[in-house]
Amino acid sequence: MSKLIIANWKMNPKTAREAVRLAKVEDKTGVVIAPPLAFIDVIRKTVRHAKIAAQNAAGEEKGPWTGEVSPAMLASLGVRYVILGHSERRMKLHETDADIAKKIVAALDVGLKVILCVGEPLSVRKKGTIAAKRFVKDQLSVDLKGIKNFKFQISNLVIAYEPVWAISTSGGGKETPEDAAAMAKNIREFVHFKLRISHFKLLYGGSVSGMNARGFLARKEFDGVLVGSASLKPKEFRKILRAGNR
Ligand code: 13P
Repeated sequence: MSKLIIANWKMNPKTAREAVRLAKVEDKTGVVIAPPLAFIDVIRKTVRHAKIAAQNAAGEEKGPWTGEVSPAMLASLGVRYVILGHSERRMKLHETDADIAKKIVAALDVGLKVILCVGEPLSVRKKGTIAAKRFVKDQLSVDLKGIKNFKFQISNLVIAYEPVWAISTSGGGKETPEDAAAMAKNIREFVHFKLRISHFKLLYGGSVSGMNARGFLARKEFDGVLVGSASLKPKEFRKILRAGNR
């Protein structure tokens, strides 16, 4: 089965014109582009093969939530995926696991596919892999609480393991495909234990580049990669696409 390559542009690029140019490079089957909210509509109209993800959504259906965007609004624009629980939102915007749990239910409820990000910060990883595994299990335990007795399609749940210290803009440490795969196994076992499901997609994210993408994509534990900085550099992203046989 071909693997998923997700481009998380974060709060980039500066203009819609640049965004359209970038989207044309990345418009391939099996690619999901996550542009900033302001560009979602124009990018959705630009691409023919790639799917679109939002980088966040509210945990509420509608109402007095100035500045928020509901999952149903995103779905009505043709958005298929939503990234939830990204470490930047957890750490810089103080999103809690309880907030994320609510958002996951709200997104799945309208049929969006959720890309749930989990991963340990450097302070935890320094204590060793057992501490890191426990940290990620604790995140998952709360994040997935709401869907325990909730009916949804398993193919609508994607989990991305993104060790915070390996993200290029928050440490850029080097994670190896072997260590990441050990964590992936831990995640899969835990989700199976909690929800009795095992056929969900699991991705790796954190400084994925043209150089190392093949190593992660080749591992059977991973169904794809979540790419940040390299998704803003057409040359680099093309290499990642080639590593994924696109
Ligand atoms: P980088 O690829 O820049 O490390 O970012 C990873 C990430 O946060 C994707 O969601």
